[in-house]
Amino acid sequence: MSWEAPLAERVRNLKPSPTLAVDAKAKALKAQGVDIVNLSAGEPDFDTPDHIKEAAIKAIKDGFTKYTAVAGIPELKDAIAAKMERDYGLKYSSDEIIASTGGKQVLYNIMQAILDPGDEVIIPVPYWVSYPALVELAGGVPQYLMCSADDGFALDMDGLRSMITSRTRAIILNSPSNPTGAAYSRDDLEEVTKLALAHGFYIISDDIYDEIRFDGVAPENAASVNPECRDRVLVVNGVSKTYAMTGWRIGYLAGPAAVVKATAKIQSQSTSNPNSIAQKAAAAALSGPQGCIDVMKTAFAERKAYIVDRLRAIEGVKCVDPSGAFYAFPDMSAFYGRKHEGGTVTDSLSLADYLLESASIACVPGIAFGDDRFIRFSYATDMKVITEGMDRLEEALGKLK
Ligand SMILES: Cc1ncc(COP(=O)(O)O)c(C=O)c1O
Repeated sequence: MSWEAPLAERVRNLKPSPTLAVDAKAKALKAQGVDIVNLSAGEPDFDTPDHIKEAAIKAIKDGFTKYTAVAGIPELKDAIAAKMERDYGLKYSSDEIIASTGGKQVLYNIMQAILDPGDEVIIPVPYWVSYPALVELAGGVPQYLMCSADDGFALDMDGLRSMITSRTRAIILNSPSNPTGAAYSRDDLEEVTKLALAHGFYIISDDIYDEIRFDGVAPENAASVNPECRDRVLVVNGVSKTYAMTGWRIGYLAGPAAVVKATAKIQSQSTSNPNSIAQKAAAAALSGPQGCIDVMKTAFAERKAYIVDRLRAIEGVKCVDPSGAFYAFPDMSAFYGRKHEGGTVTDSLSLADYLLESASIACVPGIAFGDDRFIRFSYATDMKVITEGMDRLEEALGKLK
């Protein structure tokens, strides 16, 4: 008898991460020998610094290979607390911090901990691909706040005010942003804190790119600009991007003890502690020498300047200058409606497909981030690849009629 494995509605409605899918397709083509220029990756191309690796090797050799406390080892929590004080001037005690398996698990746990079915979460668009799914998996309802490239993707404050309802449970702020690279102004952050205080919702502050910033502004978030709002702010961060540690899977939450405790309960019944060895490595990353960040940041800044110049030099392409992270997010909609030998470019998906098929460029269509006019190009790769990518892009776009 044939057996069609029944699956829960929850998973039937869930779409896999489109960015990981593009990256997988690019890697598969590369393995087949196709000369792919991969501008889709959401991770630094740098290796994890040696002193961090050494801490992990030592942990293994010392036999630090057992379960730890669910919320993380004291050494890591201390290092996280020290970072929060160093960079934001915010003090967190041990029961206000939890380490998890990447920032993504932190966000998953938060949604499970704070949302009841039907609760609304405001998500500014363009957004990081996983936010809507994470909200929906917890039974929440994403409410999309459109932000415009003409304003540098700043928050539309009037739009935000008009969206708040009695079901608004949280807003997610990601600054600097994946995919736009935009960072929110201090004034806008402050304004959101006032709304959160007045209406009683959380601010989920995804600060994962906080140290990769080119505009000279020191890390800041809703809690640091308005300490009165501190207990409404759920700070999400991790070591993936700042220390080139995507594979190690350590992220953390700093926030009110009640929420931290709730997420620890969820974590204790799902994954338990994050990897013990990676915790030691993350502690070394956060408390060790910080010079490695500058080395990477300098390289990102140079690449950003180059890729933005090249994109803006192509007629029809409009690109906001990113304040941080490692993505350029140009508006490519001027090319929609144009034809090539295999068909017509109609949207970001068909443009990304055309670029992959005709020029072997891997990039992520803007629709994955909620705005179909755009394409995301990652510059977390070396200058040679970026140069080749921009040469190919210019040629491929030039062939569209
Ligand atoms: C905006 C944003 N938040 C969170 C994450 C999660 O990172 P990780 O789970 O590696 O800590 C990512 C990774 O791509 C991201 O871009």
